[in-house]
Amino acid sequence: MSAEKISVKQARSPESIGKTVKIEGWLRTRRDSKAGFSFLEINDGSCLGNLQVIANADLPNYEQQIKSLNTGASLCVIGELKESGGKCQATELVASSLVVYGEADPETYPLQKKRHSFEKLREWAHLRPRTNTFGAVARVRNCICNSIHQFFQEQEFLYVHTPIITASDCEGAGAMFQVTTLNLDVIAQKQIQQLDYKQDFFGRRAYLTVSGQLEGETFACALGKIYTFGPTFRAEKSNTTRHLAEFWMIEPEMAFYELEDNMALAEAFIKRIARDALTKCPEDMALFNEHIEPGLIAALQNVVDSQFVRLPYTEAIELLAASGQTFEYPVKWGVDLQSEHERFLTEQQFKSPVILYNYPRTLKPFYMYCNDDGKTVRGMDVLVPRVGEIIGGSQREHRLDMLEARMAEQGIPAEDYWWYADLRRFGTVPHSGFGLGLERAVQFITGMTNIRDVIPFPRFPGSVEF
Ligand code: 4AD
Ligand code: MG
Repeated sequence: MSAEKISVKQARSPESIGKTVKIEGWLRTRRDSKAGFSFLEINDGSCLGNLQVIANADLPNYEQQIKSLNTGASLCVIGELKESGGKCQATELVASSLVVYGEADPETYPLQKKRHSFEKLREWAHLRPRTNTFGAVARVRNCICNSIHQFFQEQEFLYVHTPIITASDCEGAGAMFQVTTLNLDVIAQKQIQQLDYKQDFFGRRAYLTVSGQLEGETFACALGKIYTFGPTFRAEKSNTTRHLAEFWMIEPEMAFYELEDNMALAEAFIKRIARDALTKCPEDMALFNEHIEPGLIAALQNVVDSQFVRLPYTEAIELLAASGQTFEYPVKWGVDLQSEHERFLTEQQFKSPVILYNYPRTLKPFYMYCNDDGKTVRGMDVLVPRVGEIIGGSQREHRLDMLEARMAEQGIPAEDYWWYADLRRFGTVPHSGFGLGLERAVQFITGMTNIRDVIPFPRFPGSVEF
């Protein structure tokens, strides 16, 4: 009988009992029984749980090879799946043949049974997906990405690819990585003071994008509802648990949406992601609930079931001022909220996600719609417990004169944004959008405290290994 190649996940299902199968994966542990056989726990990443393999002493390579197999060795096992007598699994595989693809030397293979700190595992970012926690993070991250596409596709949003190399600074924060083919070593040798960007690849300065929003707006103002999902780069020197130099952002942009519509979409979006993670990754979520963030599952279920608080910035300031808390950064109208303030609002005051909106115009980028009060703009941030800001967005300024005034106010060269202004010149419409930081969403869903542990290969100041 030929063996069907299946995953550990499939092999763990009672429906597979009785089949002759082929399983390939990595050895997690080996226990030898006095009765003359060994238990091998095999994982292939398809799920958190391992498949228990029974290797009997009559296998031809039992004495020389199987009995000395170590954690990390890669194997191919063929055998029959039987109902397991053990409590931890429904099935077990009785090996009729076992081939070793590669051994892992216990003296040098870093991932031994002993637990390592997440800091230590960052040094082995190429091996950490083989651990339970990082495998679970990878699967939940995948589930979230899938939900994101489904959420938008079901509502007829178009997936649009915006450029990664750009000449415009969407957020105006000046934290951009420059892209150049000018030879810096030669420039230094020749001690050239004034660079001639006409000689550069694009004939002008270029950068890695900080946001696809501006280009996304051009498509929304033609096709209605769009979203982007791509890598984003920020050269901020922030060494925090919530900042990366390279992260993934999802940016929906909708024509004929005002701020309220934007808030409703953002709320439904976060709820969908949380709901899907809970229902589609129960085993991985249980691991996070038990080992990473006790109470996580109940907290996320609560997020799914309850309404987000919507709070104007001005009221948030009043609340914080009246809270009796001592903050490191004192609050008054006009200051940017720090993570201590955001956390107070979501974790203590409301114990719920909070959508803050109508921020002072001086705090926010040029593209946000100016309210009639002249002081505030229709920006919104979605704050969640533990993570703080997870989404930033706004209704866009669609009135040409107002947009030009805001650009002048912020010293933004209007000639560089002629195409952006054209959207307001020809058939302008009210429109809105927001950006969700994927890694912040993964942090929120998994309870992982450091953003460097929810992206495969984190990029931050001083770190570009792997
Ligand atoms: O609030 P931000 O800067 O907003 C924008 O970029 C808008 N153009 C989005 C839009 O309206 N289309 O960034 C959006 C989100 C933040 O709320 C945060 O979740 C994430 O992106 N983010 C980061 N994530 C990781 N590391 C960083 N350095 C981040 N900076 C922003
Ligand atoms: Mg923001």
